Amino acid sequence: MDAPYQAAPDVHVLPANVALPGVGVLPVNAYVLLAEEPVLIDAGMGVDGDQFMDALASIIDPKSLRWIWLTHDDADHTGSLQRVFEVAPSARLVTHAFSALRMASWWPVPLDRVHAIRVGDRLPVGDRTLRAVAPPLYDSPLSTGLLDEATGALFSVDSFGALLPEASQDAGEVPQAALAGGMRAWATSDSPWAHLVDRQHFAQVLDGVRRLQPTRIFSSHLPAASGASLEAFLRVLESVPDAEPALAPSNEEFAQMLAAMMATQSEPQPVAAT
Ligand SMILES: [Fe+2]
Ligand SMILES: [Fe+2]
Repeated sequence: MDAPYQAAPDVHVLPANVALPGVGVLPVNAYVLLAEEPVLIDAGMGVDGDQFMDALASIIDPKSLRWIWLTHDDADHTGSLQRVFEVAPSARLVTHAFSALRMASWWPVPLDRVHAIRVGDRLPVGDRTLRAVAPPLYDSPLSTGLLDEATGALFSVDSFGALLPEASQDAGEVPQAALAGGMRAWATSDSPWAHLVDRQHFAQVLDGVRRLQPTRIFSSHLPAASGASLEAFLRVLESVPDAEPALAPSNEEFAQMLAAMMATQSEPQPVAAT
């Protein structure tokens, strides 16, 4: 994973950028929201466990976490969840009830520490209230985003994710065409059902996001973005139902991807100065 960065006075990003040879990178973000009752939003990828725990501890004493908001139980969001639970005894897990139950089939989720949430619910976290919102596109029906009603920060789950040419800490720095193309590529792959939607109904769903008037957009798969980007993002999403759904890589393409990944890993690494 990459070094954490601060994206707002009260929001820190715990970022990873998964290298995809021939494509670029896919950002995978967790967030720390420094509310009066601090909130960790998602828990990164398991492969980064030690780094994730160190990065988290560099931002906040995990013991002081009061909430862990799990947007959904996909592996790129749950990586260090068990470890965080162990070092954050006061934290309760806020998630869709079925996310908690599904995870309980593969690890002993302390279900008495789960606060089940559904779209429309509001969660007071001391100095502010978080509202559970539905992301417009998603790869899990359990996906539950959140709007910080005090600041207007929108945590949009997998929605607004993008495959990018390179890692970045600010979506505004990514060239517009690359961002739009990468967002469409991600959306057609992460939400391959989008071509099935009724266009008018989908426009209403996007209007619902517009009405949230987010000041900042924190996607799980995009660098931090300003609320001013929302219209451009919504235009991309509007085009997704008419785009071809992404095809899964063939076995041959998968072999090529693996070969490219191996080649990248075996490239000589710069020697650290001593
Ligand atoms: Fe997902
Ligand atoms: Fe994801």
